[in-house]
Amino acid sequence: MLAARTLTESSPQSLSAAATGGGLQVSISNVRRDYGAVVAVDGVSLDIGAGEFVSLLGPSGSGKTTLLMMLAGFEQPQSGSITVGGLDVTRVAPNKRDIAMVFQKYALFPHMTVSENIAFPLLMRKVDKTERARKVAKALEMVKLEGYGARKPAELSGGQQQRVALARAIVFDPPVILMDEPLGALDKKLRQHMQIELKQLQRRLGATVIYVTHDQEEALTMSDRVAVLNHGKLMQYGPPRELYDRPADAFVADFLGEMNFIDGVVAAIDGGTGTVALAGGAVSAPVSPGLAKGDPVRVAIRPEFIELRPADAACEAASRAVVGECSGRTGITGTLAQVIFNGAIVVMAVELPDGSMVTASLNAHTAPNLAPGGTVTATWPVSAARLFPRGRA
Ligand SMILES: Nc1ncnc2c1ncn2[C@@H]1O[C@H](COP(=O)(O)OP(=O)(O)O)[C@@H](O)[C@H]1O
Ligand SMILES: [Mg+2]
Repeated sequence: MLAARTLTESSPQSLSAAATGGGLQVSISNVRRDYGAVVAVDGVSLDIGAGEFVSLLGPSGSGKTTLLMMLAGFEQPQSGSITVGGLDVTRVAPNKRDIAMVFQKYALFPHMTVSENIAFPLLMRKVDKTERARKVAKALEMVKLEGYGARKPAELSGGQQQRVALARAIVFDPPVILMDEPLGALDKKLRQHMQIELKQLQRRLGATVIYVTHDQEEALTMSDRVAVLNHGKLMQYGPPRELYDRPADAFVADFLGEMNFIDGVVAAIDGGTGTVALAGGAVSAPVSPGLAKGDPVRVAIRPEFIELRPADAACEAASRAVVGECSGRTGITGTLAQVIFNGAIVVMAVELPDGSMVTASLNAHTAPNLAPGGTVTATWPVSAARLFPRGRA
């Protein structure tokens, strides 16, 4: 807050002087950028709090990089504005924004040592030699690379190179750090390790981080809030849990985590609960406002809510039988098509009468022992399902 107030009173040239430690608030207001016929970013508005970790999540081509480039100042929006710490930076040059950027390809200078690479932004900012050495040592310590200063990038592993790129980004205490798929080139184990390190580093620095990824799991694990983009538009913005539990539309529901969609038609509405007619039966689901009897819908249900039992078994014989297991549940019967053991979980795919598949994700240790080919009933809590409108066939 203090940094933000100081900033608004100062000129763009003194951004770094004002922002000593801690993050700044970033505000994106109705920003649009097109390339000829392609609208890369289509009227996006986002408020990012000081010190917040926000991910821009979306499929390839959804406008994530373009939005980040406009934040960095390498691209200009055709309309809309961007403020950092309350100061309008929409037309401010990249080197005057004091926003650091980390790319997927680490973009290290191969002929320079690790220390020289990290010192580069300080050199650009005319920081004197003693101060440079002090800051480089601190940055190396931050990314746990003490003792590696004299090496060349080629003498480091991929993960270490990415840490050097991070050190180079944080060395001048930027209030805002932008990252474009920074862990995309690392293998899964290392990526997960770096996710934790990055998050810890961000907490220590207190910097605002805007993080681009197409990996929904990464966005969910790392972020305070996630902004989901599709075709240049902001689809939903909120904490990971909210997006996962209450996706605003079918796109977000599908993009974050696993989701079953079952096509049906609203057959009846009674208060807040609807009956949806499906190819092989009917299920109950909470109805969202705007839906009416006769509307084509998709019933969305996450695999982890589904339990399976042999179709002829009573409720009490269900996999994780508890008293009253059937009350408040709804379900559909089909043929068990596949059982896939996946370590901690076992995935069971049920084929419905219309040929569509519903998958259940079950605890491998407590899942019922069911054989493919049998008739099974898949049930889930009524309250766990969501209905999304679907175009009329
Ligand atoms: N310099 C450019 N010239 C023309 N089209 C571009 C340019 N940069 C991006 N685009 C287009 O804008 C859209 C969004 O691209 P981008 O922001 O790179 O998406 P993402 O990072 O989410 O994959 C894409 O359709 C892409 O082809
Ligand atoms: Mg991109």
